[in-house]
Amino acid sequence: MKALILSGGKGTRLRPLTYTGAKQLVPVANKPILWYGIEAIVAAGITDIGIIISPETGKEVQAKTGTGDRFGAKITYILQEQPAGLAHAVKVAQSFLENSPFLMYLGDNLIQQGDLTYFLKEFIQENHDALLLLRPVLNPSAFGVAKLDEKGRVLQLVEKPLVPPSNLALVGVYFFSPIIHDAIACIQPSARGELEITDAIQCLIDQQKQVAACKLEGWWLDTGKKDDLLEANRIILDTQLTPCILGQVDDQTQVIGRVQIGSGSKLINCTVRGPVIIGEDCHLENCFIGPYSSIADRVTLIDTDLEHSVILQDAKVADIHQRIVDSVIGQRATLTVAPRRPKALRFMIGDDCQIQIM
Ligand code: G1P
Repeated sequence: MKALILSGGKGTRLRPLTYTGAKQLVPVANKPILWYGIEAIVAAGITDIGIIISPETGKEVQAKTGTGDRFGAKITYILQEQPAGLAHAVKVAQSFLENSPFLMYLGDNLIQQGDLTYFLKEFIQENHDALLLLRPVLNPSAFGVAKLDEKGRVLQLVEKPLVPPSNLALVGVYFFSPIIHDAIACIQPSARGELEITDAIQCLIDQQKQVAACKLEGWWLDTGKKDDLLEANRIILDTQLTPCILGQVDDQTQVIGRVQIGSGSKLINCTVRGPVIIGEDCHLENCFIGPYSSIADRVTLIDTDLEHSVILQDAKVADIHQRIVDSVIGQRATLTVAPRRPKALRFMIGDDCQIQIM
């Protein structure tokens, strides 16, 4: 059994963060989203992993993630020159996948820990040609959607339908036998010009192959957008954060609940109410850091009050005399207010940023 992780794409929905980096490397609780997928795959017992990368962000994904040693896996990077669809990615990976059954995992998806092991067992034991994971959602038009019969068999799959045949979205985790390659060879690009994996699976259904679907009971997050990213951050901090204080905390600082503070970080006169993760070499002075905040390495926060937010590395926030909530602040961004009450606001804001002054 092998695994294929898709880590290409342009990440348009996470702009501006993704102008300077891959969406799969955006951190959740200070760890790239992609790494959660790799760890889950290795935990399920699969260590031969191919990662599809794009010309734009591939080098960065490769440099950050490495050979796989840190995960106990062997990683092969496979370049997909064009974002020509999920089925196209499988085609490009054919020489890596050979004749092996495989798990396909979309690199911006996060699912509850332990679930992969369960579904992998089901796929192997039942000898399916394809096993899909489904989850009811409120906005099925944003996903691939499955229609089932009364016995739960898959009748039809449609990609991003205007009129969805059900509320069951395809989760970005699929199990395939090598027969999928024949199905992909038969399909044509869709209206949006992509080779859709949903069309290839539909082809298997039409040929009466064994396509099964399981409903995912645990949580699932597609971290493509800001609110999903904050939600993923909340859930991971809630369920996976181990408290540990390596940095320096002065006598005036109060640390309450589950909090992780990396080495080289300094906290002066702060209150930190967990779950919170603070990376390495940060400087925090006169701050309140509320629950569900992730602060990456080398961040400076002065006179800042913040909660339920993600601050990326090397960012600086100072003297904002209002609570910052539900926010994502990008790498190296600075957000400051003149020490006295400002008469005017002065901005240098990149394309696609969203600032709300309330
Ligand atoms: C892709 C798939 C879609 C699936 C979704 C899950 O969509 O095409 O069928 O439901 O992932 O995350 P995308 O996120 O690329 O728009």
